[in-house]
Amino acid sequence: MKNLSLLGLGILFLITLLFMWLNDFASFRFGYVMLALIFLIGCLGVYDSTQKKHTILRNFPVVGHFRYFLESISPEIQQYFIESNTSGRPFSRNLRALVYRRAKNVNDTHPFGTQRDIFVEDYVALRHSIYAKSFITDDLRVMVGGPECTQPYSASIFNISAMSFGSLSGNAVSALNRGALKGNFLHNTGEGGISPYHLEGGDICWQIGTAYFGCRDEVGLFDEAKFREKASWPQVKMIEIKISQGAKPGHGGVLPGVKNTLEIAEIRGVVPGTTILSPPAHSAFSNPQELMYFVRKLRHLSGGKPVGFKLCIGRPEEFEALCKAMVEENIYPDFITIDGAEGGTGAAPLEFSDSVGFPLEPALIFVKLTLDKYHLKEKITLIAAGKAISAFSIVKNLALGADICNSARGFMFSLGCIQALRCNTNACPTGVATQDKRLEKGLVVTDKSERVYNFHKNTVHAVKELLGATGHQHTSELTVKDLVRGDEMVDLANRYFPDSVVQHLD
Ligand SMILES: Cc1cc2nc3c(=O)[nH]c(=O)nc-3n(C[C@H](O)[C@H](O)[C@H](O)COP(=O)(O)O)c2cc1C
Repeated sequence: MKNLSLLGLGILFLITLLFMWLNDFASFRFGYVMLALIFLIGCLGVYDSTQKKHTILRNFPVVGHFRYFLESISPEIQQYFIESNTSGRPFSRNLRALVYRRAKNVNDTHPFGTQRDIFVEDYVALRHSIYAKSFITDDLRVMVGGPECTQPYSASIFNISAMSFGSLSGNAVSALNRGALKGNFLHNTGEGGISPYHLEGGDICWQIGTAYFGCRDEVGLFDEAKFREKASWPQVKMIEIKISQGAKPGHGGVLPGVKNTLEIAEIRGVVPGTTILSPPAHSAFSNPQELMYFVRKLRHLSGGKPVGFKLCIGRPEEFEALCKAMVEENIYPDFITIDGAEGGTGAAPLEFSDSVGFPLEPALIFVKLTLDKYHLKEKITLIAAGKAISAFSIVKNLALGADICNSARGFMFSLGCIQALRCNTNACPTGVATQDKRLEKGLVVTDKSERVYNFHKNTVHAVKELLGATGHQHTSELTVKDLVRGDEMVDLANRYFPDSVVQHLD
């Protein structure tokens, strides 16, 4: 290949010279440009074949670069030319388009019927009623705060899930917060602390991760005084202890020194320019009882605001141990957020995203049943996160036991995210998940905050329509009996028509 390339380059060189000679050397400027180009390609070829880092370039000098170029634009090729309306991952084109249309407040209907294959056993649908309700006026809010909470919070059924300033740009965070203000819903800060961009007036849930950003001492331990001060801010409505996150449960994080700018260091309470570790586990507690004491401490320090924790289920017995500790210690979190393994992140090791943790559906069913077993469900609000982006996904989670749903990537789409899959490169083309000021500039806060507001408003409206179809008035009336699965339909068919054995829906 190397020899062929050299031969090709040599032939091109000779042809150019021949043409120049035939056309009189002095007037044939294009020829000189060609010669310069051939010279540069030659140099690149020599460099490629002598460098020691890339085998492909050593073996296929010059042309090997095409492979790297095509590889670098493979997400775009995939999205523009290969994916169908239903096949895109993590979110299909149909779902992304649904968010865009709701965010832009334009027609969000779908033509001609479903494109999904609904004749499969894992198809899940809502059971509608003959006695559907036509107009639901209830604003579908849920009161968060158990018996020990003195400042309960009336939450929307749909809120912005945790995403830090740092993983998102300042403009993105500001737009989310202004949207939350206009639509009266909750905006979770993510574990990176409360930034000025979170303080645009919208209600916030302050998330405390293992690095205690914003409430840590010099060595990274929880600092009561710093926590008390910020937790008392009126915009802070709830406090969430992050135990784990579905996309990388049991994995910490690193804030590299280069990304630890003056601004980020000030927000997070760390020394600028230093590398900061978020350990995989908390230092403030190491067993179920200590977690409950920590919950009680935070509630006390915050002046009685709702305090809860977020986790992805890994070992069911560990969650059951938490429930036992609640009963034994008589201390109850005000809410528990369950994140599914299908959840998103700015950056995580592939093995953690692909192969660690329970997906949301089984986790939610297990958590709801366990809370019921210990008579805790009445005291604790259950929040679900994990691809809750359409009204049906929200209604499904609520029917499985959740009271509220959070969405991260749904709200990213409403900000203009195009699923470019660049969150971990600082090169997000839409200015959503980047700290590059040139890219961030493209995201206009006033315009995008309207879209965040519209997406929330229109999605909650769609939830009301689905709820009406079930014949219920409030989401709290939904139960698992409102759902039906494909395999149940097969059973039903077999029961009614025992002679014509139906095995598969297709
Ligand atoms: C860019 C990005 C940053 C995130 N940062 C955090 C975080 O700081 N803390 C956290 O608990 N979860 C974080 N998450 C997870 C989300 O809060 C959410 O639990 C998960 O993505 C599931 O919701 P989704 O499927 O609607 O995205 C992040 C997700 C994304 C996409």
